[in-house]
Amino acid sequence: YPVAPAPTGAIGFTGLPPNLAAGFIDAVRVPAGYTAKVMVSWGDAIGVAGPNALVGHDHSDPSPITAAVQNATFGQHNDGMHFFPFAGVGAGTVSNDRGLLVVNHEYVDPGLHANTASYGSATITKALVDAQVAAHGVSVVELRRMGGKWSVVRPSTFARRITGATPMTISGPAAGADALKTAADPTGMSVMGTLNNCAHGTTPWGTYLTCEENWNGYFGANGAFTQTPVERRYGVTAGGFGYRWHEADARFDLNAPGNRNEPNRFGWVVEIDPFNPRSTPVKRTALGRIKHESCDYAVAPDGTVCFYTGDDERNDYMYKFVCAGKFNKTNRAANRNLLDSGTLYVARFNADGTGTWLPLVFGVGPLTAENGFTSQADVLIRTRQAADRVGATMMDRPEWVAVHPTTREVYLTLTNNNRRGTSPASVNNPNGSSSAGGSRPPVDAANPRPDNRYGHIIRWTETGNSPAATSFDWDIFAECGDKMATAANLKGNINGDDLGAPDGLWFDKQGRLWIQTDQQGDGLGDWANIGGNAMFAADPSTRKITRFLTSPRNCEVTGVINTPDGKTMFVGIQHPGEDWAPGGYTKNSTWPDSGANGPTTQAVVTKPRSSVVVITKDDGGVIGT
Ligand code: FEO
Ligand code: CA
Ligand code: CA
Ligand code: CA
Repeated sequence: YPVAPAPTGAIGFTGLPPNLAAGFIDAVRVPAGYTAKVMVSWGDAIGVAGPNALVGHDHSDPSPITAAVQNATFGQHNDGMHFFPFAGVGAGTVSNDRGLLVVNHEYVDPGLHANTASYGSATITKALVDAQVAAHGVSVVELRRMGGKWSVVRPSTFARRITGATPMTISGPAAGADALKTAADPTGMSVMGTLNNCAHGTTPWGTYLTCEENWNGYFGANGAFTQTPVERRYGVTAGGFGYRWHEADARFDLNAPGNRNEPNRFGWVVEIDPFNPRSTPVKRTALGRIKHESCDYAVAPDGTVCFYTGDDERNDYMYKFVCAGKFNKTNRAANRNLLDSGTLYVARFNADGTGTWLPLVFGVGPLTAENGFTSQADVLIRTRQAADRVGATMMDRPEWVAVHPTTREVYLTLTNNNRRGTSPASVNNPNGSSSAGGSRPPVDAANPRPDNRYGHIIRWTETGNSPAATSFDWDIFAECGDKMATAANLKGNINGDDLGAPDGLWFDKQGRLWIQTDQQGDGLGDWANIGGNAMFAADPSTRKITRFLTSPRNCEVTGVINTPDGKTMFVGIQHPGEDWAPGGYTKNSTWPDSGANGPTTQAVVTKPRSSVVVITKDDGGVIGT
């Protein structure tokens, strides 16, 4: 895509004050000179075959949303997203007025989805499970701007829902492995759907990557259950996260005959061709099986390409996949299976500011038969245990990664870690996650704060600036915190507006770094001075951080992308009014149907809905200037 002005990272807007608990504003607020409007919300028809009416489901209707409706409408709890522009009018140009917005749907709020406050005691039916499964995955939404107004194109030949029940292919070194075979799929190469689609990535060849994060929580066991080591390392438990799908759908029951390997078929990066609605999504096993947060790439002029992906769990790791083949700029089809061959690495951050990419290759280093590994497929299916073995650095929850558009410097949010700093490291219990008990590894140079409740942002440059490098130099871009805190550990060192729990992270084409937050507690407790969740712009050269957007009550701000000209920005608002219950909003959000960011398709306000908003500058300029 053409780059407009030079990437200076410069910020031109006047920052917003924090959204404090007193006088909390239940709306998306943007700086003076900008406008934010609701673009598309959970349950809105997106133009796939099915209801082409304005709404797919009347939210004043107390009946639960069904799979049939959800399969034709925007999924719940949107997360990472990308805008794929159509071709422009002139040769070699792209449109800034028409394209495909491809959006992840991370998870469902079961009570909100089923419209019941007593989900925990409800009778779980297959129909109810199917509806929730259909709310996950990805929405491909065709957007068009006419007369200055963006709208969803209905019907659209490109519109598509990919869900937790969409057939997908498994490819790469682990495809067909015994540990991926189930009674329903004796080949180990075909799986139904994708789940917990947190953040995303793209490829230089124009495909979309959706990342499977907390997939473990959907599984459960009817009857006696004994965790295997791999289940323990990934947090697969008898009860899951309380979705209770295993009670009505054998696919999610770890004790169903021939189904114990079903969880192994999740935890991958899935590649989708957004412009071919009949294409089959592909789970790319070469990128490893973890709780993938996001996946961003770096590509050198010679076509060397790598993909960065973090494992979001306390004291888990940061990974890089280097493709064996080169990106072919002139032949898109030649790149079709680039993600199937290459080398997966995991990061070690050394105390002297250098870093090492440690290969996760069967037979290399400790990843041998003597240590219990049987093949490259085994290394990939048990990526976490392989990374434990090679001595990677435990991180404070790797969330999004963002590669600078011209320098290829890599930035990574480490959102927080409350299991760090008070006990010796244990090689037998390297994962301090909840399922693995109370290990609290010591701080290290790259994760320097005990009780890191506000998180930090780390960055690195590959040696020789090569995506294929096996070493790098790193530093900490910002320690987040509250300057007004009394404890030194909590103050942080932000130049500009304080924030905590950094999560979403994205560079625009001009080098502005956009940071989105995911903290619990709107302006309460630790957040009394920082306020509610927000989005900030950072100038990488000055490290100045400025608040650009504040959000509705009890949501997370996640997902951001611009049109190619930088003049339209899409931002995701996830789970406003979380912990909703019928008859009342426990966190008092009526967004977006309150109309605070423009009228929506719903006449009657009954539920808060995750949504994407569209932001423009009133003078038609580039967002952030
Ligand atoms: Fe789904 Fe780690 O955020
Ligand atoms: Ca996230
Ligand atoms: Ca988060
Ligand atoms: Ca979230």
